[in-house]
Amino acid sequence: MSVLEIRDLHVTVGEGDDAKEILRGVDLTVRSGETHAIMGPNGSGKSTLAYSIAGHPKYTITGGTVTLDGEDVLAMSVDERARAGLFLAMQYPVEVPGVSVSNFLRTAATAVKGEAPKLRTWVKDVRDEMSALEMDPAFAERNVNEGFSGGEKKRHEILQMRLLKPKMAILDETDSGLDVDALRVVSEGVNRTRAEGEVGVLLITHYTRILRYIQPDFVHVFVGGRVVDEGGKELADKLEAEGYAAYVKDSKETAKA
Ligand SMILES: Nc1ncnc2c1ncn2[C@@H]1O[C@H](COP(=O)(O)OP(=O)(O)OP(=O)(O)O)[C@@H](O)[C@H]1O
Ligand SMILES: [Mg+2]
Repeated sequence: MSVLEIRDLHVTVGEGDDAKEILRGVDLTVRSGETHAIMGPNGSGKSTLAYSIAGHPKYTITGGTVTLDGEDVLAMSVDERARAGLFLAMQYPVEVPGVSVSNFLRTAATAVKGEAPKLRTWVKDVRDEMSALEMDPAFAERNVNEGFSGGEKKRHEILQMRLLKPKMAILDETDSGLDVDALRVVSEGVNRTRAEGEVGVLLITHYTRILRYIQPDFVHVFVGGRVVDEGGKELADKLEAEGYAAYVKDSKETAKA
């Protein structure tokens, strides 16, 4: 049983006079076995939240805490976060020139587990997961993210999650750029991980499309750098029907006051 706890998190980007506060007191708790959806309009700070938890150097934590099972995540290096069981799939995954998918995955698994996975079972695991994600085996020999299509990047992210078996998975815009078939395949990958139990999922999206495949236990509405409303999966349907207008208006009034 694991718990990711985010308390009153404040984050800025930029330096000196250009520093801008993006996260303005985020509170969120994710337990293993739970799936939480974070939904909010463009620019509300959703990716900033994911990057901050990941330890991206561009973001400065100015207040608050993030803990995983009581351990201070913000004090950990990026590698330590991965070893602690955090997995972050990003909206704009980076290219890793000259490194094949196959080598990248094995290096990542070695870093996370502290020892190299046994070659024979590893090769089979990779092959099985790629097949389940309907990926061409030749994909394993391509360089990471080099010329990947949007759908290929997402499949690659989910492949990483499947093989690394994290305690907490943060998936940012997992539905962006996916056609209907890819959305189903990617969602099934996430759902297989959920079915194996013990993983907590934080799913960041601004559409409800993916939530038809990955049913969240909780939905949080994110506006102006904080959580402004929470509910069950019925809240996602309400957002689809009504949009974020009411929340955005409230948030501006609060900011002025
Ligand atoms: N490095 C940066 N420098 C300047 N501004 C930034 C930086 N990173 C984020 N921002 C600003 O922070 C705000 C929140 O951005 P963020 O990417 O977190 O939003 P989002 O909720 O993920 O939006 P989307 O739904 O479009 O993905 C935006 O106004 C963005 O321009
Ligand atoms: Mg984003």
